[in-house]
Amino acid sequence: MEKVLIATQKPFSKQAVEEIRSILAPEGYGLETLEKYGSEEELCDAVTDAVALIVRSDKVTAKVLEAARELKIVVRAGAGYDNLDLAACTAHGVIAMNTPGQNSNAVAELALALMVFMSRNQFNPGTGRELKGRTLGLQAYGHVGRLVAGIARGFGMKVQAFDPYLTTEQIESDGTKAVSSMDELYSTSDFVSLHIPATPETKGSIGYALISKMPKGATLVNTARKEIINEEELEKVLAEREDLKYVADVAPANYATLREKFGLRVFATPKKMGAETAEANENAGTAAARQIVGFLKHGETRFQVNR
Ligand code: 3PG
Repeated sequence: MEKVLIATQKPFSKQAVEEIRSILAPEGYGLETLEKYGSEEELCDAVTDAVALIVRSDKVTAKVLEAARELKIVVRAGAGYDNLDLAACTAHGVIAMNTPGQNSNAVAELALALMVFMSRNQFNPGTGRELKGRTLGLQAYGHVGRLVAGIARGFGMKVQAFDPYLTTEQIESDGTKAVSSMDELYSTSDFVSLHIPATPETKGSIGYALISKMPKGATLVNTARKEIINEEELEKVLAEREDLKYVADVAPANYATLREKFGLRVFATPKKMGAETAEANENAGTAAARQIVGFLKHGETRFQVNR
């Protein structure tokens, strides 16, 4: 029986694993799991005889791919695939895929929750603010951005977005206003919510120049990746602007310093939790399993990311 390995430092729910198994078993694949592992070596050992690998934010490095002698496909159960060494995948003849959209709702709900949390003094006593009537700016209007927009409208927020890969018509089709530049987005939004991937172009791209343009009392919300923030510049702008706030689903490297200096104006979840719902685990995990069967049995490559 050919082996599919789930390698997750942050495990899926038991239900999600069983659903994945129930897709793979009838197709003749045996499922093994490596959960909460502590080192790359453990992953290298476990993946040696696997034909397919399912991961979350787990790093699939050149070394892992070297060890994975039987591997044909790796699926990142989730959207961002910055944890996969795509060049090494290609060099080893391994197809790499993601499962776009499958955990977007979980991330979108968290983005709004973080906005409420920051607007209510992190649930400490004192007068907070409502989201109603305030302007939300979405940096990128993909799967997550669109869902955030819909929920935000339910709160009575005005929603606008900047996405250089979409036309004005595509953004405005569901009632979101398209703005024409990043400068405009930052300077006119009470909340900017980030929904861009971590790529060579985006890493470190959110810094002083943009954040300092935000209006009085604004909050920057990052449920994307920590790498897209220029952390030193974030610290500088928070020091200069006592009205600004930063909230993130993944702690910046200088989080302890930021908390010490800026207190309740800053918050980061202890561990990335955007996709940590039963629904997201099941959606992304079963999509990964279906994509593995689709590729190994029928050569389907729709979600391949290393072309
Ligand atoms: C994603 O890119 O899909 C999210 O960041 C989820 O990451 P996780 O699987 O590590 O929770």
